[in-house]
Amino acid sequence: MDVREEMLIAKNDTYGPPEVVKLQKRPRPEPSDHQILVRVFASTVSSADSRLRSRRVPRGFHFMVGLLYGFSRPKYDCLGADLAGEVVAIGKAVQHFQVGDRVVADLGIKLGGHAQFKLLSVKDVIAKIPVGVTYAQATSLVFGGLTALSFLRDKLKLQSGERLLVIGAGGAVGSAAVQLGKIMGAHVVGVCSASKAADVKALGAVEVIDYQSTDWRRAPGQYDVILDNVGDSDFAFAKVRHKLSPGGRLGLVVADLPATLQSLWISMFNRQKVFAGPIAPNTSDLEYLLSLCREKRLDPLISQTFPFEKIVEAHRVVDSGHKLGSVVIEL
Ligand SMILES: NC(=O)c1ccc[n+]([C@@H]2O[C@H](COP(=O)([O-])OP(=O)(O)OC[C@H]3O[C@@H](n4cnc5c(N)ncnc54)[C@H](OP(=O)(O)O)[C@@H]3O)[C@@H](O)[C@H]2O)c1
Repeated sequence: MDVREEMLIAKNDTYGPPEVVKLQKRPRPEPSDHQILVRVFASTVSSADSRLRSRRVPRGFHFMVGLLYGFSRPKYDCLGADLAGEVVAIGKAVQHFQVGDRVVADLGIKLGGHAQFKLLSVKDVIAKIPVGVTYAQATSLVFGGLTALSFLRDKLKLQSGERLLVIGAGGAVGSAAVQLGKIMGAHVVGVCSASKAADVKALGAVEVIDYQSTDWRRAPGQYDVILDNVGDSDFAFAKVRHKLSPGGRLGLVVADLPATLQSLWISMFNRQKVFAGPIAPNTSDLEYLLSLCREKRLDPLISQTFPFEKIVEAHRVVDSGHKLGSVVIEL
């Protein structure tokens, strides 16, 4: 086989620690009529990759995740929830994209961004990357940015002038939420470890609470919106409701099944509301985030970049549960 027709993918045939991820050669795919082929230049190793690789899912979701991703071995053996790269081939029926376009995509549940080439359907969540936005920035907007936007704007309906508390403010979702909260006109307070305080303030938090020295539940003050990216308030609405204003809303970005079900019950019978569950990414939200990045109003926080051959190290960093912003791999 001609070596130019091969590509490297990061493959995990089994569930397990970072070392189950191995680079392998595969034939480079060809697009069918409604597909585009992207040469991938950047992708992130996200908390979702870490969870799916190790099957570390919130309580109560093992069966559902097993159905989607496979019980004894991964159904989709290449991780990566996002990618950014250049279109190198298009199918006969493709109109909206051309060879040479710089694109970024949310890959949904099938993943597959940790590969040098990736086929995308024109129906996927794909946006063109504006001039001035790098591949690393574009791919880092996807996971944290789309999640934070969907929670703050759509589920929690954050309003200008409201007080927003972001728990896990230094992570991929949290760092995007701090910036988007500020753009939406909120007074943002971040909860993170002391080592991340300066970064979270630089993103726009007016105040930072170091969770290792202060329990935010016992600190004075109330919030109109609390966004929990850690699972800190899981199944414990009773313990945090005093921190919510009378019409306050709690967003559980990470929640186990009991907390997800409880959120429906609480919201039905209380003025204070709780929202949990997955988000539904879409292209217009991705384009909106890219436009904010082009205008330099939103800059996705990237803490570390690894070459593709060091992807196992990238997984180790993400597995810590304490990463700063996004961890990017360059392919
Ligand atoms: N619902 C959805 O659709 C959806 C979408 C995306 C992600 N998620 C979930 O959301 C969660 C967050 O994702 P992510 O990508 O942002 O994770 P991440 O990048 O790993 O960030 C987590 C952050 O939380 C901080 N942290 C850890 N323990 C903490 C504590 N007790 N209090 C405050 N901060 C703490 C960590 O650093 P420090 O401890 O150093 O501060 C880290 O910066 C993941 O569990 C992911 O699976 C859900």
